[in-house]
Amino acid sequence: MTSPIDDLQTVRDYLRYASTQFAASPLFFGHGTDNVWDEAVHLVMRSLNLPLENNTLFLDARLTRDERAMILDRIERRVNERVPLAYLLGEAWFMGMPFHVDERVLVPRSPIGELLENGLQPWLGDIEVNRLLDLCTGSGCIGIGAAMVFEDAKVDLSDISEDALAVAESNIDLHDVRNRVRTVRSDVFENITGRYDVILSNPPYVDAEDLADMPDEYQHEPELGLAAGTDGLDIAHRILAKAADHLTEEGLLIVEVGNSWVALDQAYPDLPFTWLEFENGGDGVFLLRAEDLRAWQARG
Ligand SMILES: C[S@@+](CC[C@H](N)C(=O)[O-])C[C@H]1O[C@@H](n2cnc3c(N)ncnc32)[C@H](O)[C@@H]1O
Repeated sequence: MTSPIDDLQTVRDYLRYASTQFAASPLFFGHGTDNVWDEAVHLVMRSLNLPLENNTLFLDARLTRDERAMILDRIERRVNERVPLAYLLGEAWFMGMPFHVDERVLVPRSPIGELLENGLQPWLGDIEVNRLLDLCTGSGCIGIGAAMVFEDAKVDLSDISEDALAVAESNIDLHDVRNRVRTVRSDVFENITGRYDVILSNPPYVDAEDLADMPDEYQHEPELGLAAGTDGLDIAHRILAKAADHLTEEGLLIVEVGNSWVALDQAYPDLPFTWLEFENGGDGVFLLRAEDLRAWQARG
């Protein structure tokens, strides 16, 4: 028996079919691409291990039977189960680099990547980065991205979730940085020792109301990576309480709190948060200097 699907033969056919299926579905794009076409290109090309650019040579190439079955299955799961594309591919891109991902970790998308691409300038100035902590690391994307920027720094990736740390470990190997980057299992700062020149964190920060309203795609992400109490600040409060003890004299603390930034700003009227701006989208990321945190703590 033949099916209309049998008419699909070439890479071009599958790009067209995926686009049509995606356009007819109420998909949410929040995990890497932001439109139907890019989603289709990523799904088809990366499923075939083909490049995302300079790939026109392959458009009229025919797919094998197995490749066709795999791509059709992925299109169907994207549409019917609303699985984020990164989980279907087992891969996400962050700071122009690939990272292994699966449903044990959030799909990387933090705007902290843009700060790292700018070498944390102008904020860092001439502070030397010898030790850096990526707190609540998930896949390890922020800390490993930082290790690529600060080539001599020793980087700790910490998370409370053993599952997440297993994914971070695989990314340490993927990027061949085991000589400088390690994982530490820790509930916020509980098992963290010593001081860091820079602490970066994208902790869970979704408040209860936003969590209830999230599109279906987010149901595939670990709730431990998203939920942070009624106002989304459970982890942020714990970071602020202890960060000064883990920063060097001139250290920097940079934390993403997304939509919960308003509640955080109101909760700490005496803390001089710098709310950072981004060219490529994103907000709710603050910077504090160790000296500001210490002065605030001294005021009691
Ligand atoms: C928003 S995800 C961020 C992952 C990664 N940094 C990124 O940007 O893709 C938050 C991470 O915090 C971890 N987490 C949740 N509660 C924690 C806690 N109490 N201590 C340490 N990590 C925690 C979760 O397991 C999750 O991996």
